[in-house]
Amino acid sequence: MKIIRSLAELRETLSVRDKVRSLVPTMGYLHEGHASLIRDARRESEQVCVNIFVNPLQFNNARDFETYPVSEDHDRAICEEAGADIVFVPTASEMLGAGPALQMAMPALTKNLCGPFRPGHFEGVLLIVAKLFHLFLPHKAYFGKKDYQQFRVIQRMVEDLSFPIDIIGCETIREADGLAMSSRNKNLKPEHREQAALMIRGFRIAEKAFNNGNANPADLAEIAQDVMLTGPDNRVEYTQVVDPETLEVLQEIEGDFVIAAAMHCGEVRLIDNLLIRGG
Ligand code: PAJ
Repeated sequence: MKIIRSLAELRETLSVRDKVRSLVPTMGYLHEGHASLIRDARRESEQVCVNIFVNPLQFNNARDFETYPVSEDHDRAICEEAGADIVFVPTASEMLGAGPALQMAMPALTKNLCGPFRPGHFEGVLLIVAKLFHLFLPHKAYFGKKDYQQFRVIQRMVEDLSFPIDIIGCETIREADGLAMSSRNKNLKPEHREQAALMIRGFRIAEKAFNNGNANPADLAEIAQDVMLTGPDNRVEYTQVVDPETLEVLQEIEGDFVIAAAMHCGEVRLIDNLLIRGG
């Protein structure tokens, strides 16, 4: 496994594009969720590239950026174990120079869910991922559906700009109690850990209600949110039932739908979602 830190060396190493190349973009502090993306890429391609870069452009909150966990040795071991060939770990100045003048935005897919609560976030994600696609020229790129809105935004960017890249959406990897794995879980206080799992528990209770005949999206969101709020240190930012393609908030359920939420558990902001089969 090769570790690369400069754009020049990355370009040189990737100049021959004779193998099916995959890219797994990450911000490091890797866990089993990231490892599963790398393993999928290993199975489905010949050259597996992982990018590790805590992208300052996508943090709308300075404290979140400063407290974002970093652990390069641990990340390297996970990449190696999961089968990566190339790991790119640039510094911010190597990656962004003095900062981009370009702006990218996707208003249609960011007006709901996290969009209004994280101004500038998806713009920063779009720009860095577009740049990564140009740098790596991958045939395939792997994203987790845990960040469902991000997955859709990137899928749509690739469609709109005709990037010749297959975007592969991977299932969410969870702890034994259902909590979605996340680099931010590390910052949860021990007394908040159980409360964090109330988000997925709420989604599953809403799913049961749906399967028992409640097809009112607002009711289902409220059922899930009430479960989350049984945690005294949980503060819910939003709970929404949306169309899996357009991310529009549903007034009526007609097929599959996604229930998604963002919740502060103590100091830590967590997101998760569940796709529920409607037909
Ligand atoms: P990061 O949060 O490090 O996540 C990197 C990738 O791992 C994303 O595609 C994310 O959806 C996926 N992932 C995270 N937790 C997961 C889990 N529990 N199960 C499955 N997949 C999971 O998302 C980002 O970084 C950044 O926004 C990035 C795309 C790298 C752009 O900077």
